Amino acid sequence: MKKVLVTGGLGFIGSHLVDELIRRRYKVTIFDNLEPQVHINGIPDYYNTNARFIRGDVRKRNELKEVIKGVDIVVHFAAAVGVGQSQYQIAKYVETNIQGTANLLDILVNEKHNVKKLLIASSMSIYGEGLYECKKCGKVKPPLRDFEKRGNKKSIYNWEPECPYCKNTLKSVPTPEDTPLVSNSIYAITKKEQEEMSLLIGKTYGIPVVALRFFNVYGPRQSLSNPYTGVAAIFLSRIKNNNPPVIYENGLQSRDFIWVGDVVNACILSIEKEEANYQVFNVGTGTPVSILKVAEILIKLMRKEGQIQPDVTYKFRKGDVRHCYADITKIKKMLGFEPDISFEEGMKKLINWSKKVKAVDRFDRASNELKEKKLV
Ligand SMILES: NC(=O)c1ccc[n+]([C@@H]2O[C@H](COP(=O)([O-])OP(=O)(O)OC[C@H]3O[C@@H](n4cnc5c(N)ncnc54)[C@H](O)[C@@H]3O)[C@@H](O)[C@H]2O)c1
Ligand SMILES: [Zn+2]
Repeated sequence: MKKVLVTGGLGFIGSHLVDELIRRRYKVTIFDNLEPQVHINGIPDYYNTNARFIRGDVRKRNELKEVIKGVDIVVHFAAAVGVGQSQYQIAKYVETNIQGTANLLDILVNEKHNVKKLLIASSMSIYGEGLYECKKCGKVKPPLRDFEKRGNKKSIYNWEPECPYCKNTLKSVPTPEDTPLVSNSIYAITKKEQEEMSLLIGKTYGIPVVALRFFNVYGPRQSLSNPYTGVAAIFLSRIKNNNPPVIYENGLQSRDFIWVGDVVNACILSIEKEEANYQVFNVGTGTPVSILKVAEILIKLMRKEGQIQPDVTYKFRKGDVRHCYADITKIKKMLGFEPDISFEEGMKKLINWSKKVKAVDRFDRASNELKEKKLV
C-alpha cells in the first residue's frame, strides 16, 4: 500500500484527488493549513476521514519535514491561488508558492526520505496570452495587451491581440506546452518558478517530478465564498445571491474549462505512469468557452433568465489574457488522457451540487480591492 502526502489536500482539487486515492487503496496524509480565505468554516464537511489530516503550513520547513517521513509519493497542491490578489499580496504569494516549494525540495535533498515521485500543480496562467495565428506571419505569441497606450474610448477598443510584427488582428489557436511563458501576474510567476525548481531538482537528484498545467478547473467544492478565484464559482455565487455576474471586456474572451474529475484522472495517470516522469503536461479539454457563455449557461440552468442578466462592463482588468486554451496532444499521446465530461454536462453537475451549499457573495470586496489598486 503506497503512502501519499497531499499538501493542500483539503482544497478543491486536492480533496477530490484524496477521495480517488483512497478508493484506489493508497494510504493518504493531508497537510493543509486551512487557509481562512478558502475554508471560512474550518475543516470542510467533505473531509475524507479515511485520510490522516495534519494541520500545517508549507512555509514552515519543520512542519513539512515531519509529514514527509515514510511517504512514497508527494502531491504538492498547497498554494495561494488568487491571480488578481497576488498583484498586491506579493510577499504572501511568493512565500507560500515559491518558498513553500523550496522548503519541500530542500527536505527532499537534505533529509532522509522514501519519496519516489513528486506531482506539482502548475497553471495555464504561466503562458500569459495563449498561442495565436496571424494570416501573414503564421503562429505568433503576442505580448500582454496594454490598453493605456490605445486611449480611453471604449468603443474603439479592439479587444483581440494584434500581431507584434504586422499589427493584423490575431486568431487564437490551441496552446501547446512549448509555447513561450510570459507570466501575467505574481501568481503566474510563482507557479512558473515552482515548476522549474521542482523539475530541476528532480532531474538533478533522480526524483521523478511531473508538473501538470491545469487550465480552468471547475466543479463541486470550489469555494462559493472565495471571490478571488474560479470564475464559474464566482458567477454561480453571484447568481445564487440574485446578483448579476460581472464581466470584464466584452465577454468574448475565452478559457478552457475542465471538470475536476477529469483533472483527478490526469493526476492518477501522472502518478501511476512512468512515461509521465520529468514531463510537463497541459490539463484542459482543448475547447475554448467564452466568459459570457459561462454566465449565460449558469443563469439559464439556475432558471433565472429574465431576472438576471450578465453585467458586461467593457472594462479591462490589467494583465488579463484574451484567449488561452490547451493543446492536449502531449498528454493524450503519452498518458492516454481523455477528458470525459463536456462543459454543458459539467455545468449541470455543478449546479446540482451548489443547491446544497451556502454561497456568501463577497465579489464586491474583491472588486473594490482591485479598484483601489487601480488594477481595473
Ligand atoms: N482551480 C484551478 O482552476 C487551478 C488552475 C491551475 C492551477 N491550480 C493549482 O492547483 C492547486 C490546487 O488549487 P485549488 O483550486 O484546489 O485551490 P484551493 O484554494 O481550493 O486549495 C488549496 C489548498 O491549499 C491550502 N493552503 C493554502 N496555503 C497553504 C499553506 N501555506 N500551507 C498549507 N496549506 C495551504 C488551502 O487551505 C487549501 O485547502 C494549487 O496549487 C493551484 O495553484 C488550480
Ligand atoms: Zn503578422
